[in-house]
Parts: sequence; structure tokens; C-alpha cells
Amino acid sequence: MIISMDKKAANEGDKLKHPLLLEVLARCKAWGSLAYAESHAGAGKYLAADQHPDKPHISNLFNLLSDQKDKPDEEAAGGRYYRLLQDWWADKDGFATYPGSVLQAARFLTNQRVKAKFRVTEAHKGTYDRLAKAMNEYNVRPEYDKFQNKLDWLTGEDSLVMLIDPLSLGEDFGTDRKKKLNKGGMDLPTLTKVLAPCWGKKAAVVLLWSGFGNTGGHVKRGMVYGWLKCLCEQKGSSFSCYHAKSYYTFVMGVGEGKEVTERLLELNWSRSWLSKTVKAGL
Ligand SMILES: C[S@@+](CC[C@H](N)C(=O)[O-])C[C@H]1O[C@@H](n2cnc3c(N)ncnc32)[C@H](O)[C@@H]1O
Repeated sequence: MIISMDKKAANEGDKLKHPLLLEVLARCKAWGSLAYAESHAGAGKYLAADQHPDKPHISNLFNLLSDQKDKPDEEAAGGRYYRLLQDWWADKDGFATYPGSVLQAARFLTNQRVKAKFRVTEAHKGTYDRLAKAMNEYNVRPEYDKFQNKLDWLTGEDSLVMLIDPLSLGEDFGTDRKKKLNKGGMDLPTLTKVLAPCWGKKAAVVLLWSGFGNTGGHVKRGMVYGWLKCLCEQKGSSFSCYHAKSYYTFVMGVGEGKEVTERLLELNWSRSWLSKTVKAGL
């Protein structure tokens, strides 16, 4: 898992979920304070040197950003991701690295002066150690544990933004549940438990990231979309979806979070610097 994470950092999937995450956080500023939760936190920081020479995603993204003739407006789709990365790469400590989701969230919220509590779990010891080191300067203390052991802690706060990455969703893992949850899987009974405390919140936005294989992935994708949409309809929450090739980010809004997801839909990705990556809808 560690090797593939380093190899995939800044790929199309990251170029989808990370800008969306920042756009969500920007729209939660009006809440005054929030809790940022992540079930699968990752390493916090990834090195370009650890990527395959044929798939240098970090260098490619750096080049895409550097090639922009007109600096994207911060308020335009993906503008906040552009700014965050530009600052990150201008800093000598960020050079030839890529910040993961927790690091991006912490940097963004700190810069925006948003009061935030972090509730993030990472189950792999080596990855957790890297994350803890990367987050130290932001005063964020990740939890070395499996997300399924920390559900109350992860979802306990009232104004919540939560990222579930990956959501490798299956119907019901049954007796294989323990094994599969520890390999980044999630089944409907577990997801139901994770989301249960969210439905009654004053404000919550939940982002769920999934990668679907190219072969037969469209069938699975349709099923997952249907399950999540149906769940949101039952709970009276909003539901929207964005994709980049076979990668998807589903966004749910609860309470005041619905306004956040509605305003997110106003962004025009087709005219952004990420126009080749982020598409709204299924
Ligand atoms: C795709 S990475 C997360 C990347 C991160 N969200 C980012 O964007 O930078 C998935 C992480 O989940 C961790 N993981 C897998 N199963 C887990 C579990 N049951 N609880 C917590 N972490 C888990 C893996 O060790 C891995 O570091």
C-alpha cells in the first residue's frame, strides 16, 4: 500500500479529490470552526524521487502548473489548489514533493485562519510515522489506528468535513470484513455505521473517493452511485458526483453542508486549469 501510494501521488485521482476538498473547505469558512476527519489518512507527504520514471505524476503536475500563462483566479474552479501547490513548491521544503490530503487541509485551514480540530486515522505504522512527522508543524496529532476502531472519535464533532479515501465499496464482506477493511475496503454495513452519526449534524460534508477499474468498472460505478444516491435521498441530504477518467469523488451534504455542496456545483471545471481532469457528474 505504501509503495503504490507514493507512486500514485499527484495522479489523476489526486488531481480530482484534492481540489474538490479545498473548494469544500473554502465554503465551510462561514461555519466559524470545524472538525476535519479522515478515515485513511496516508503519509502526509510524498516524494517525486519515489515515483516510477515512466509515471512522474508529481513532476507532471508541477509542469502543468508552471505552464499556466494566466494565473487562475483563486475563486475559480481549482484556483485554491493552484495557489496551495504554487506556495508549496515555492518553499524549499516542498520542492520535489507532493502534499497529501491531511497536509493540504491543514495548510489551507491555517492560511484561512479557520479554527479546526483534526481527527485522522492511519493504520499502517510506517505511514503513520511519516504522517505524524509531516503534521507536527501544524499541531495536528494523527491517530495510529484503524478507522473502524475510532468511529465515535472521527465523527463526533458537529460541524464536520470528512474524507473517506479510498471507498472501495462492496455490498457485504461478511466473514472477510476484518481482513478487507484493513486493506482499504469498505462494505455497506460499515459505511452505514460510519455515516450514521453524520445525518443528524448541524453541518456536515462527506467526500468519498473511489477508483473503478477500466474493465467492468462502469458496472460497479453505477452500483455505488445508486447506493449512495439512494442513501442520501432517504436521509434528505444532497448528493453530487465528480470524476476524472475512472476515478470518482462523491460529495454528500447534510444540514448547512447542503448549501456548501450546492455552491460547489456552480464551479465551472471545464474552463479551469484542471479542465482535462475534473468533470462534474457521472
Ligand atoms: C490512498 S491512501 C490515503 C491517501 C490520502 N487520503 C491522501 O490523499 O493523501 C490509503 C491509506 O489508508 C490506510 N489504511 C488502510 N486500511 C485502513 C484502515 N482500516 N484504517 C485506517 N487506515 C487504513 C493505508 O495504510 C493507506 O495509508
